[in-house]
Amino acid sequence: MNKIVAEGLKRMVSPAEVARFVTEQKQKGKTVGFVPTMGALHEGHLSLFKRASESSDCVIASVFVNPTQFGDKDDYINYPKNIDRDAALAERAGVDVLFIPEESAIYPNGSDMTVQVHTKTDVLCGKSRPGHFDGVATVLTKLFNIVKPDTVYFGMKDAQQVAIVSSLIRTFHIPVKLVACPIVRESDGLAKSSRNVRLSANERKEAPEIYKGLQAGLRAAELGERNFDRLISTVKAYYAKHLILGKIDYVDVLNYPELKRSGASLDRHFIIACAVRYQSARLIDNITADTEKLLSSREAD
Ligand code: PAJ
Repeated sequence: MNKIVAEGLKRMVSPAEVARFVTEQKQKGKTVGFVPTMGALHEGHLSLFKRASESSDCVIASVFVNPTQFGDKDDYINYPKNIDRDAALAERAGVDVLFIPEESAIYPNGSDMTVQVHTKTDVLCGKSRPGHFDGVATVLTKLFNIVKPDTVYFGMKDAQQVAIVSSLIRTFHIPVKLVACPIVRESDGLAKSSRNVRLSANERKEAPEIYKGLQAGLRAAELGERNFDRLISTVKAYYAKHLILGKIDYVDVLNYPELKRSGASLDRHFIIACAVRYQSARLIDNITADTEKLLSSREAD
């Protein structure tokens, strides 16, 4: 490691300034880690910054609420913004540069060219949010080209995003390594999300059941269940009993990271995932697991 001497967080708006900074760091032999975000930072994001600062000499984080990945205009307009708070949190978590581009810098010619994702999008969030992953892949291609990091850090909270970004990197030969980081949760199990603040008090009380339902699916797998449909039914049966305010958008079990079924039974690596709608927030969560580690992890408990 060849850390840059702490000089405080630099805020940069211009892509050219970021590119210049990265070139200088690389000339000094430093490795560059990059964490793309849409701001409204919480401990989930901060865990990525910390991970990046442990393994890269220099950490760049972006805050850009990307319009092209929102289907719902209200969700985009109401996306929480507080850049001074974000900057203070990012600095404390080891970020060296906060890149806060204007929309016109990222989309200088509107959406004249976009990346289209043709695989892994017909399931989970891709199914209920058509075009979402095209927007994600488009903005990340741009951000990766501006920052040119050695390593990018993503959270498994958005496991489908991780699977698709891995494919994006491979497909377009982008010279970057992807590190997937674990989901950070509240003490009651609810996955941290910028959207949790939109829950009413009663919705917030119910929301930890989302993770418990996924755990019910995992327990069935630990007991030997390998059938996709029966695992899905286990989770749905749990939700039928425990979710009153939340409406299920989807519950699915798939091989991971392929996001496909192979016959009726799981392969080794799989995901149990769901999305639940509350009045003003749609929450997603998942568990990824390895069938060969399930029994041994139970024995270690
Ligand atoms: P955003 O929702 O801000 O998330 C930025 C990163 O933080 C993602 O990699 C996400 O998986 C991770 N993250 C969010 N909540 C987390 C949690 N509870 N635990 C661990 N990691 C968590 O994802 C996006 O932004 C956008 O799609 C983006 C990649 C920036 C492209 O616009």
